[in-house]
Amino acid sequence: MDLNLTEEHKMIRKMVRQFAEKEVAPIAAEMDEKAEVPFENIKKMGELGLMGLTVSEEYGGAGMDTVSYCIATEEISKACASTAIVMGVQNSLVCHGIEKFGTEDQKQRFLVPLAEGKLIGAFALTEPEAGSDAAAQKTTMVLDGDEYVVNGAKNFITSGGFADVILLFGMTDKSKGYRGTTALLVEKGTPGFSVGKEENKLGIRASDTSELVFEDCRVPVANRLGEEGQGFKIAMTDLDAGRISVAAQALGIAEAAYEAALEYAKTRVQFGQPIAKFQGIQWMLADMATRIEASRLLVYNAALAKDRAKETGARYSKEAAMAKLYASETASWVTDLAIQIHGGYGYVKDYPVERYYRDARITRLYEGTSEILRIVIASQILR
Ligand code: CAA
Repeated sequence: MDLNLTEEHKMIRKMVRQFAEKEVAPIAAEMDEKAEVPFENIKKMGELGLMGLTVSEEYGGAGMDTVSYCIATEEISKACASTAIVMGVQNSLVCHGIEKFGTEDQKQRFLVPLAEGKLIGAFALTEPEAGSDAAAQKTTMVLDGDEYVVNGAKNFITSGGFADVILLFGMTDKSKGYRGTTALLVEKGTPGFSVGKEENKLGIRASDTSELVFEDCRVPVANRLGEEGQGFKIAMTDLDAGRISVAAQALGIAEAAYEAALEYAKTRVQFGQPIAKFQGIQWMLADMATRIEASRLLVYNAALAKDRAKETGARYSKEAAMAKLYASETASWVTDLAIQIHGGYGYVKDYPVERYYRDARITRLYEGTSEILRIVIASQILR
């Protein structure tokens, strides 16, 4: 596969790498340890255009293609996977959905400030009893005049604790199954909307994962994204985009772990020579590099499929699911080997590989578990 990266792709990698090395990486371990969100960096990412990279310039975005977006995600993830998921949810799950399904008024009110990084978005689909079975929504949205009255709870919502805009899914008609799902844009501060428990996590600890509670929360009909009953398709369409983003995140984490292991293997001396001289270590490094390269090809392939879909309208669910499945499994595997190469030093916080290992784990869970992705791939193959 000829990647044929353009000057624009090389330029975005250089720009984001510089920012990530200078601003993101130096505080990543500390933010992870304290479980604190790096708000200053998120603000700077907005100023650099990273919070609306693929949004058209007309709506405040950088108007770049999805390969550029994946490159940027990869570079931020190499430095800090927590920072990358805030960017990922904003771009792929929130901005993407509003640009594709929103009214002009919604684009002006929400998309423009989101793309400029002035507002932060969250995507609220998951519920305690609706995880992989996303259609089993319990949240209700009852039309009353020109407002929906929302009741229910969402959990595991990335950036939920501080987001300004929530893309919320729930049922306007339970009798219709997934065809009764509707999407609403809920603003922070709306009476009846509150933030519940914040999760204490294994990895991506510098990102916020919170419960959201809706009690007789009134949301104007003007904030409904798409039509009544279109919510499930909006969620699935967004998740196709989001899975490419998580795949790029996993790729970045794997690259960081591989580079750390390579450097360590070249400098760590045992039995009178650098451990990189031992074939056992060489084979690990060779396999790590090969699987990372394969991940990269799948990620960029999915990104190209998404960009082609702009013209053709074709679904890219299979390409996105394959990229996330392979890149996330690779990230877990590579980070594990990176610890192995570091030996005991890999297990302690003086070295970054234990953080990469913890951060990699979530990429096999959120935005579709590996098992759900296999279902998606199989359903596309067998169509
Ligand atoms: N694009 C457009 N339409 C789609 C679609 C897609 N990608 N996927 C499904 N659909 C449509 C189908 O065509 C079908 O419509 P028709 O009947 O009109 O043809 C309809 O949606 C229902 O499809 P299925 O019968 O396949 O639905 P299902 O109930 O069997 O579920 C599923 C399919 C793939 C399991 C889905 O529920 C799923 O993806 N589950 C995982 C949910 C998930 O990824 N959650 C992540 C939470 S978000 C998160 O993690 C964010 C965060 O904070 C980081």
